[in-house]
Amino acid sequence: MINIYNIAVIKGDGIGPDIVIEAEKVLEKIGEKFNHEFIFTDVLMGGIAIDKTGVPLPDETIKICKESDAVLLGAIGGEKWDNLPGNLRPEAGLLGIRKALGLYANLRPATINKNLAHSSTLKPEVIENVDIMVVRELCGGMYFGEKKRGENYALDTEKYYDFEVDRIARTAFEIAKKRRKKLCSVDKANVLESSRFWRERVKNTAKDFEDIELSDMYVDNAAMQLVRNPGQFDVIVTSNMFGDILSDEASMICGSIGMLPSSSLLEDNFGLYEPIHGSAPDIAGKNIANPIATVLSCAMMLRYTFNLEEEAKAIENSVNKTLEQGYRTKDIAKTGENIIGTTEMGDKIRGNI
Ligand code: IPM
Ligand code: MG
Repeated sequence: MINIYNIAVIKGDGIGPDIVIEAEKVLEKIGEKFNHEFIFTDVLMGGIAIDKTGVPLPDETIKICKESDAVLLGAIGGEKWDNLPGNLRPEAGLLGIRKALGLYANLRPATINKNLAHSSTLKPEVIENVDIMVVRELCGGMYFGEKKRGENYALDTEKYYDFEVDRIARTAFEIAKKRRKKLCSVDKANVLESSRFWRERVKNTAKDFEDIELSDMYVDNAAMQLVRNPGQFDVIVTSNMFGDILSDEASMICGSIGMLPSSSLLEDNFGLYEPIHGSAPDIAGKNIANPIATVLSCAMMLRYTFNLEEEAKAIENSVNKTLEQGYRTKDIAKTGENIIGTTEMGDKIRGNI
């Protein structure tokens, strides 16, 4: 029997189409090998949606995503749309889809690939064994709180409801349970009331997870500790805003932002999967972009939404093998290494499955 999985695909802007096409090829190969069929339906979001329909997130896109089993996203945005008002920018599409689909848990792993340890700006002994999972709250906080512009002031509001903190805390504890059983909750409780509340709620949820070691850390300290001794972290749980910042920082520990996948999830395993990097319009269409983060996002999709662990591992192993064979896209190559293009990287990964 063949299993059919429906995936809504948002190629997006800039390098989005370049990298998503490679990821689709890899999924097709997985399908052939393990007897699954992946059906891809393209939908519009971001700058391209603005150009074609006038809005960054057409209703049709939300509808098709809701009818699908998972969503694969490339990247959105670009200078071309930078001067539009906030609610009409490509980013509004991304925030809108997170909210419309209720994707409150954003998982951003930061792991060192031993083949690429040299591309980190940190010393090898500092980054040894780094394996961090940043769990970022994605539907609340300042991103979605009241916003206002007065004559001589502007306002964004950080507001968290109990249920919002409880559900993200629970997700993070569950993830820690399957890993090294350490959870660090990051906040700014020495200053912000919303953070004091966050801390209380996380402590309350901890009662159900007695085998997990919970710690709290102020965000400024966490930013420092991530570059001082990243190996101390297992799972980090934090708010939307702090998670945005810390996940970029954590990704750089690993060398290239072009390597890291992410998933945004709901309780029932529905998810949106995307590389954590942006749309890099300057290199779009030039066959330079690194498709690995998107390919690895597909591995996360197989694992978290479709529950296909063996297939997920097959993708991850194939990426590692390709790197071991010495193939590199430009962003992860050092001098003397074998630089290949986006398409060739996709072909190599596909071939190694
Ligand atoms: C991310 C991005 C987005 C965010 C932007 C593009 C709106 O930085 O996914 O981290 O801030 O969430
Ligand atoms: Mg970000």
